[in-house]
Amino acid sequence: MFSRKKEKPQIDPLQRELYEHARKRIIQKKRLFQHFIVFIVGALFFMLLNLVLGYGKEITFFGIDWFVAAILCWSFLFILHFCNVWLFSKFMGKEWVNRQMERLIAKQKAEIALIQKDVDLMFPKEELLKRKDGFIKGKTSEIVGELKESTSTITMIAAAGENNALGKDNDLVWHLPDDFRRFKKLTTGHHIIMGRKTFESFPKLLPNRVHIIITRNKGYQAEGAIVVHSIKEALEMAKGDMQPFIIGGGEIYTIGMEYADCIELTRVHEAFDADAFFPDIDTKIWKLEKEEFHDVDEKHKYPFTYLTYKRKNT
Ligand SMILES: NC(=O)c1ccc[n+]([C@@H]2O[C@H](COP(=O)([O-])OP(=O)(O)OC[C@H]3O[C@@H](n4cnc5c(N)ncnc54)[C@H](OP(=O)(O)O)[C@@H]3O)[C@@H](O)[C@H]2O)c1
Repeated sequence: MFSRKKEKPQIDPLQRELYEHARKRIIQKKRLFQHFIVFIVGALFFMLLNLVLGYGKEITFFGIDWFVAAILCWSFLFILHFCNVWLFSKFMGKEWVNRQMERLIAKQKAEIALIQKDVDLMFPKEELLKRKDGFIKGKTSEIVGELKESTSTITMIAAAGENNALGKDNDLVWHLPDDFRRFKKLTTGHHIIMGRKTFESFPKLLPNRVHIIITRNKGYQAEGAIVVHSIKEALEMAKGDMQPFIIGGGEIYTIGMEYADCIELTRVHEAFDADAFFPDIDTKIWKLEKEEFHDVDEKHKYPFTYLTYKRKNT
């Protein structure tokens, strides 16, 4: 259905030049080696002709046997060839290396300038300095305001039982495929902020999302994820995102409540035995904007309702 132009594979000119040089060099060495073999065989042949078969015994050049003179001339030519390949050849000489180095540095400088331009657009310097200053002076409430201003909607997304149960033994206590699908649809392409325990409950990284893990452990590392040590730092990391998601668990929802603008809560209509809980939603602060019921079916053991809360204007 689609007619796609066949594109020529792009080869970096630098790599192409390097490859061409290497290819020429191999050919040069191969020819020198062939020359050497022919020279040895030729010299032996001349000696055989003269010394064993007695051919041209009486012929001499400047007082030396013709075959010695021939071998000497050929030796001279071979030495010339040898010097040409090993001494005079400018294969990747110092000049060439310096030129390549200069080109590489210029290329990297251009790339860095481009990246810097993008960074400057995304994070204006004055704003970063202001924020850094604020953190140092501990102006938490101002920063909370600023973070809310700079990220459009900080959203907490969770599924909780009637008793606010979230999970037990670092795992969920229900299986609701439609809720998973909704979670995937809403969070794909965004930053997802989570506690260390929730992160460790995943079998692997969730695709197409930037993982930000909050932990008190300064040495904690997780491949493919960003590790931070406070919710403020996590939100700062997600600043360029128009809708970063706080995805749990219980401890992180509790500290995230203060920063959130929206809560996407799936209320599962059952009370569960749990060890992690969603915090209470204060209706003085939060307004229920939307609700959508999902009944029990063959894939969903419990009925549930998608609830969307928005922070009331203060
Ligand atoms: N139903 C849902 O929608 C849902 C969503 C997510 C998770 N869950 C469930 O929730 C449970 C996990 O929740 P949880 O409350 O036990 O753990 P959590 O919130 O996922 O992670 C707790 C960890 O976060 C770090 N942390 C917490 N507060 C911090 C702070 N102020 N500063 C720096 N680091 C901080 C600590 O990590 P360190 O110990 O490394 O310092 C702490 O142990 C699991 O059962 C999971 O399946 C359910």
